[in-house]
Amino acid sequence: MKTEAVEEVQRAEDLDALQQVRVKYLGKKGLVTQRLKTLGSLDPEERKIQGQAINALKQEIEDAIKKRRAELEAAELEASLARDRVDVTLPGYRLPTGGLHVLTQVINRLLEVFRTMGYEVVTGPELETDYYNFTALNFPAEHPARDTQDTFWTTDGRLLRTHTSPVQVRYMKHRKPPFKVVAPGRVFRNEAVDVTHEAQFHQLEALVVDTHITMADLRGAISTMATALFGDGIKTRLQPSYFPFVEPGAEFAIWWENPRTGKSEWLELGGCGMVHPNVFRAVGYEGFTGFAFGFGIERLALISYGIPDIRYFHQNDLRFLRQLRGGL
Ligand code: PHE
Repeated sequence: MKTEAVEEVQRAEDLDALQQVRVKYLGKKGLVTQRLKTLGSLDPEERKIQGQAINALKQEIEDAIKKRRAELEAAELEASLARDRVDVTLPGYRLPTGGLHVLTQVINRLLEVFRTMGYEVVTGPELETDYYNFTALNFPAEHPARDTQDTFWTTDGRLLRTHTSPVQVRYMKHRKPPFKVVAPGRVFRNEAVDVTHEAQFHQLEALVVDTHITMADLRGAISTMATALFGDGIKTRLQPSYFPFVEPGAEFAIWWENPRTGKSEWLELGGCGMVHPNVFRAVGYEGFTGFAFGFGIERLALISYGIPDIRYFHQNDLRFLRQLRGGL
């Protein structure tokens, strides 16, 4: 029985077969187990001899099973390693990823500059009413900026905002000074499109209100922004101008060296001024002063990157986007 059993164990081709052999010999009704049960009927001397023999047999079968199990498990592991072989040193597949649009990069950079100066970032709707876009901003009823030439009107009498200044009014209606906010966003003008004009572009609006804000604070904010964007020693200039919602009003420009021509020149960036008393009146403020400024972001991006045509921003030509692609 011994050789037979050990041979059967060694012939077992897999773990299931091995288990069957074990049951056959060592299971509850197995051949060895049955023999052990017969011991009771033997006389003591004989029982001792037979008992030792059967136990030795049992031990030998168990050892053989153990050995065979180890062999089978090792073989199985080897087979599965061969089957699922993965070379972890191979480079992975490079998945195509997106990137940040150049305008988004410029906007993010601007917002970072203003956050550092303690400004909160706010937004407003692109579809506006005449009230927020014009009336509350002190535009006289017959002001040319309301002219249908500049403004896209919707059939229900609303409009696509022509600037980000309506965000000033929306913000002030629900907040009390002091505050410093910037509002980036898309604006729309019904204009002929050329290399420097698009019917939609972006602006950044800044508004600071407190009890003693002066023109000096406005100058400081603009020059701090210019320095943060273009480095130390950058010069800024304010020239008198008119916007209905500021008084006094100005246009601001920065003196910078054009990297393409190597020449320094004034670059008109946007409008600014002290918040007009009529605007404060429209939002129910009394006893405050403030400044506001706003400018076109495409303009800034064009000059920062030397982009020749404003229309590139919205054409989604991958050759353009890839050149100026920003990391996510
Ligand atoms: N909203 C003005 C424009 O679009 C710019 C501006 C903003 C001027 C704030 C003064 C103060 O031209």
